[in-house]
Amino acid sequence: MIEMNMTQYLSENPGLKYLFFGGKGGVGKTVLAGTAAIWSASQGKKTLLASTNPVHSLSSLLMQDVFGRATPVNGIPNLDAYEIDTKDTIEKSKHEIREKIEWFLKFAEVKTRADEFVESATMNPAFEESAMFENMIDLMFEDKYQVYIFDTAPTANARRLLGMSSVYSMWVNKMVQSRKEAMSLRDLLSYSKRKQEKDPLMDYLLNLRERMGRAKSLLTNPALTSFFFVTLPEALPIAVITRFISWFRDFGIPVGGVVVNMVIDKNSVKEDAPDFVKNRVAMQDEYMQTIWKEFNGQVRAIIPLFDNEVRGVDRLKHMAKFLYT
Ligand SMILES: Nc1ncnc2c1ncn2[C@@H]1O[C@H](COP(=O)(O)OP(=O)(O)O)[C@@H](O)[C@H]1O
Ligand SMILES: [Mg+2]
Repeated sequence: MIEMNMTQYLSENPGLKYLFFGGKGGVGKTVLAGTAAIWSASQGKKTLLASTNPVHSLSSLLMQDVFGRATPVNGIPNLDAYEIDTKDTIEKSKHEIREKIEWFLKFAEVKTRADEFVESATMNPAFEESAMFENMIDLMFEDKYQVYIFDTAPTANARRLLGMSSVYSMWVNKMVQSRKEAMSLRDLLSYSKRKQEKDPLMDYLLNLRERMGRAKSLLTNPALTSFFFVTLPEALPIAVITRFISWFRDFGIPVGGVVVNMVIDKNSVKEDAPDFVKNRVAMQDEYMQTIWKEFNGQVRAIIPLFDNEVRGVDRLKHMAKFLYT
């Protein structure tokens, strides 16, 4: 039995500003984020629905082009949707890295072309993930909306960033310290007492430290942030969110609860239903037992399997009746 449903949870946490939907692929994260965004906008809150998904999921969900910039959603006051251009984000990030590396090579008087360094720094999935993460926290820091709903929780990233953040800050502190020492040594040694030049590397490190700290304080604040995990009554999706939830607990990232999606309505399954349907219902029943046990007190909503895919604002509004009963 649901102890505290979504509506109760939100009214107990009225200041929530950053909502995320995580879970295995295909479980309904995008449709649930869309549903939550429409509901939030209907409560009169200026809301942004954002996606860092490389596929055009939001445009397809809303049946409207929301690619590349925050775009008002047709027929829904207070709601903008924004599909972040991943390619563009990654290119910009590469460009910035190149500038820093070039500056550094010049500074260190190393006569190597920057290309190799740039390649090795950017040719890995972690780089792309962190470029998207940077983009997400930029949006958060801009602070133009009252509520932000992120379609795909960059789960691995949030975890990595937050898990790493103490290591990061130790590392950055050390770097800053040795930069300072190097700078003052240079001052002492230089005959001309000319004013120090600007140091882009130092600026970058200080800025990084500050941004990491801010991101962490927002993402670990239970009054502002909540991660919701979506599952189906099936083995794999349950295993995935069980793991996520325990990671998140460890890092102090607030978990808002679990949404169970695509549950077959038993009353609609008659005696003469085909076996594969009956078997599926029996399987779902069993996994529902697991869900009640594993996520005791954290299930916020149970959403039926509809007879059609969920696309367009009307279907999302219909879904909202189940997410917010
Ligand atoms: N309760 C539901 N009933 C029927 N179809 C659903 C339901 N929830 C999601 N869908 C459909 O399932 C597919 C996957 O949903 P999606 O939100 O894209 O998943 P994810 O973002 O987790 O990969 C979509 O076609 C969506 O319309
Ligand atoms: Mg999706």
